[in-house]
Amino acid sequence: MSIDTPSEHLSEHLAVSKLDVSNMVAVVTGGAGGIGKGIVTALLQRGSTVVIADIEAGTTEATVNELSELGPVSGWATDVSDEGSVTALAEHVYDTHGRCNLLFNNAGVTSGGGGKPWEQEPNDWRWCFGVNVFGVAICTTEFVPRMIAGGRPGQIINTSSGDGGFAPVPTASVYAASKAAVSCFTEALHTNLVREGHNLRASVLYPSGGMMDTGLFTAQRNRPAHLARVGESTGRRSMTFTELKEIMTKVRGYEPEVADLVEHGNFVIDCVEARRFIIARDLEDTVALLHRRAEAIGRFEVPDHHNLGL
Ligand SMILES: NC(=O)c1ccc[n+]([C@@H]2O[C@H](COP(=O)([O-])OP(=O)(O)OC[C@H]3O[C@@H](n4cnc5c(N)ncnc54)[C@H](O)[C@@H]3O)[C@@H](O)[C@H]2O)c1
Repeated sequence: MSIDTPSEHLSEHLAVSKLDVSNMVAVVTGGAGGIGKGIVTALLQRGSTVVIADIEAGTTEATVNELSELGPVSGWATDVSDEGSVTALAEHVYDTHGRCNLLFNNAGVTSGGGGKPWEQEPNDWRWCFGVNVFGVAICTTEFVPRMIAGGRPGQIINTSSGDGGFAPVPTASVYAASKAAVSCFTEALHTNLVREGHNLRASVLYPSGGMMDTGLFTAQRNRPAHLARVGESTGRRSMTFTELKEIMTKVRGYEPEVADLVEHGNFVIDCVEARRFIIARDLEDTVALLHRRAEAIGRFEVPDHHNLGL
């Protein structure tokens, strides 16, 4: 598996040595399933010790049992949107392992499935931003000072999305806004780590390279009762992967490729070892879209957006 050489514009990456994740301690939020589980698998295959921090205790236990033959993996029930829960996680990780070298802020949810922006309720915002944005913020605040104090090389990898991280899908307005926040924050985090001379870097992950058969589109399963919607949703709140694939097939006119999540996880770890800032694949269409967006902004016009047919 190969990845491209970082561009000259990212020369600061070359100033720090590459990472070797073997013997590193990694925390993966939302690592019990989906994209996170692929990352956990890849980390274990390469000799890391992994702590899965996930709100689904049962799925976490099943994943730990399934993957433990690959290497040292454990689970810790965590709600990343809750400060006390993340403090307990950090204390557990440092008491047990004495360090955290790799922090994957990967847990994420959709807000409630499509809908018109003006019909998104405060609780849609609270839940989605609570997990996607405050989750990243709280984990950063808990772990990064400890990682800095530890003085060891390491990386913080925040999972964003092409939806919002690069351009919005207009029918997923709250989710897109949350991922725009993640991308923006990660850039600031990275720049500050470099500026202060720490051997820590940040990366922003845009899961890509095919459709991801994960639980994201049934994320409502983890929505707490106190943040329930009051009114009916105008869009789809949940859909199966098969339903999503059918929509994508219709829009594109051909059946989209489905990503192998373990292969994707290994690609992510290759990029982490290379200390790449943007972790993504198949960016040609995105780059063209970003050029169109930049040109529209220069003309004071509304930038073009993603059209996924959702
Ligand atoms: N699936 C995609 O196509 C896609 C595309 C771009 C970005 N992403 C992002 O990738 C990340 C992983 O999503 P996925 O697609 O694997 O979905 P997933 O639902 O399979 O995995 C998300 C995990 O996060 C956990 N989680 C949810 N709320 C949590 C909380 N409050 N605290 C801790 N854990 C919590 C879930 O239990 C689950 O294990 C998310 O940030 C998502 O936004 C996914």
